Amino acid sequence: MKKISIVLAAILGFATLSAQADVANAEKLAQKYATIAKNVDPAFAGVSAEAGKEFYTREIKQFKGDAKTEGKPVACASCHTANPADKGRHIITGKSIKPLSPVTNKKRFSDIDKVEAAFVKHCNEVVGSDCAAFEKANYITYLLTEKTPTAKK
Ligand code: HEC
Repeated sequence: MKKISIVLAAILGFATLSAQADVANAEKLAQKYATIAKNVDPAFAGVSAEAGKEFYTREIKQFKGDAKTEGKPVACASCHTANPADKGRHIITGKSIKPLSPVTNKKRFSDIDKVEAAFVKHCNEVVGSDCAAFEKANYITYLLTEKTPTAKK
């Protein structure tokens, strides 16, 4: 049994195997949000990674932060960085945030309750209200396209 799994692991590669499982979870979640979006608005044309990227980098001035950040333009990228395959950094606490891309961080988008809670919290902080299902679908679809951490100089 052990031998077989080692051989299998050698053929498939452990990293590829687990990455694929997690990417599948994120893909499923994106589909779920897309289905809700379609129910809300039958004219919804389908997910768009491009729209997701725009949303991710769009700066909005409704951030409910502290004195340092209040009223300053903030985007999802402010904490999660321009490349979601990279580690982020919280703009208030300075704490490191694990990468948001499910391709480079297998723990992302595996627990729907956690994902929903994070969306509600961050969308309220940044956008001033919860994000729409189509925005969440686009968002995850975009994150799935970010596969490569920025090379360290
Ligand atoms: C002020 C900093 C900050 C901003 C701005 C921010 N986030 Fe986050 N985000 C965090 C932190 C901190 C975590 C959780 C840390 C962790 O789980 O490693 C997180 C985690 C998440 C997660 C959890 C994913 C998972 O499965 O674990 C989602 C989804 C998310 N953020 C979406 C967004 C969206 C959408 C925006 C923009 C509208 C945004 N975030 C902007 C700090 C931020």
